[in-house]
Amino acid sequence: MGKRRALLLLALVVCHAVAVVSGYYGDPEAGERRRPTEEEEEGEEGWREREEGERLFLLQDSKQVVKTDAGEMKVVRGFHGRIMKNPMHIGFITMEPQSLFIPQYLDCSLIIFIRRGEARLGSIYKDELVEKRLKTGDLYRISAGSPFYLINTADGQRLHVISSIDTSESLGLGTLQSFYIGGGTYPTSVLAGFDPQTLATAFNVSVEELQDVMSRQQSGPIVYLDSHSPSVWTQFLRLKEHERLAQLKRMVQYEEEEQPTWSLRKLLNSVFGEENNEGNKRSKSPDSYNIYDRKPDFRNNYGWSMALDDSDYPPLRSSGIGIYLVNLTAGSMMAPHVNPTATEYGIVLRGSGTIQIVFPNGTSAMKAKVSEGDVFWVPRYFPFCQIASRSGPFEFFGFTTSARKNRPQFLAGRNSVLQSMRGSELAAAFGVNEERLWEIIDAQREAVILPSASAAPPDKLTRGEEEEWMQNKVITKMMRSFGNEMIMGFD
Ligand SMILES: *[C@@H]1O[C@H](CO)[C@@H](O)[C@H](O)[C@H]1NC(C)=O
Ligand SMILES: *[C@@H]1O[C@H](CO)[C@@H](O)[C@H](O)[C@H]1NC(C)=O
Ligand SMILES: *[C@@H]1O[C@H](CO)[C@@H](O)[C@H](O)[C@H]1NC(C)=O
Repeated sequence: MGKRRALLLLALVVCHAVAVVSGYYGDPEAGERRRPTEEEEEGEEGWREREEGERLFLLQDSKQVVKTDAGEMKVVRGFHGRIMKNPMHIGFITMEPQSLFIPQYLDCSLIIFIRRGEARLGSIYKDELVEKRLKTGDLYRISAGSPFYLINTADGQRLHVISSIDTSESLGLGTLQSFYIGGGTYPTSVLAGFDPQTLATAFNVSVEELQDVMSRQQSGPIVYLDSHSPSVWTQFLRLKEHERLAQLKRMVQYEEEEQPTWSLRKLLNSVFGEENNEGNKRSKSPDSYNIYDRKPDFRNNYGWSMALDDSDYPPLRSSGIGIYLVNLTAGSMMAPHVNPTATEYGIVLRGSGTIQIVFPNGTSAMKAKVSEGDVFWVPRYFPFCQIASRSGPFEFFGFTTSARKNRPQFLAGRNSVLQSMRGSELAAAFGVNEERLWEIIDAQREAVILPSASAAPPDKLTRGEEEEWMQNKVITKMMRSFGNEMIMGFD
């Protein structure tokens, strides 16, 4: 029967999470973290203290990797530890109007999300230069090792980009490794590593000519496309598309005969080579995908949510990454739930709210306020919920580490697993009679996004909210009792 299966599933989820977390907490890198006492959990004082103390699942290790007059790139590093060998980082790129992020390739694959503004993104797809015009809400994937450049085409508008940085193919040399194809004194082009004579031969120009070209760029990886100081890149972009391609290809391919041991070519081969094997037929490069063109998968009076997987946007398959977007109205909450198949990364786009994450043993792992620009993550199997503050809507966007349908399991609300396993077993698990339990479980009539305020202290609770608060307590208790059961079972 359905409910037995659901019960078993939940027990498995809990059990697995216990196993994962014991390994996780054993990690010396994670460090010791003090747990609040019972008193601290109650009352306003405790609330404040917890907010500052427990930010375990907020990603705050932020590093500026590029900063120039024309823009910057910041990377928020993902948690790295025993359970997260290849964490995802989140990149934030800001570019001034009429600027260019010069051609480069990375040891990571990116999923670009145009947060605001308009961009022209040039990238090499199956040996051809493809330029896409991207606008607010567009998603586009760039694979590791694939050269690309980014231009803010808008006249009076900054470009804001958020991207996932998937490190599963990385060299492990730090956060992410850029290989600039162009450059001068800053940044340095990878070409500069070659013997000048070799390079001159490769380009079929004199060493002097080459050195002139390769010493001019000094304004960093993001430059203005200024018409009165025509940089190498301004000229580059004035070339016709096929010429640009030829140029880019020349920049990365000339090398082959000269220094067969160097790995740039090999690295590119690992990207292009594979794809070329698929045949000589001209392939159409994938389109971008606009998230705002899509209808929410779920909507009620309290907000909406959508999730994209590889059936919506096939390039996600290569990354193994899904995308989601949630908009909660003021005070509403995403019902407590669990991702059984994916770790989730979230970026707050608008408003503020609270993220609560629960350890598998039924104690609070984090209860933290977040606001625009904050990045949080939720490990697979960990129960969690997001609550909008009462001051306005709370919008967050993010990536899940599974391109296939991630089916969250809800722990409260009309569609909760408690509903599906309703029966005497469940009541017995809580040690209460069935009627008592149903009263609690049935009190919430909404699903997925709930009109909650109770979980947003320090406001006083109304009676209905108190009930819901109770319900959360019941879940905690249930998680504990399942946890114990599993431990007893293994004794
Ligand atoms: C190199 O450039 C010269 C002209 O400057 C040209 O005659 C020659 O064919 C070029 N060689 C190659 C291999 O492109
Ligand atoms: C989110 O909802 C608010 C109203 O609650 C609305 O003003 C806002 O435009 C919504 N955001 C998006 C991206 O639709
Ligand atoms: C619950 O698990 C966390 C993480 O493993 C641990 O730090 C905490 O002490 C545990 N709490 C209880 C009451 O077992």
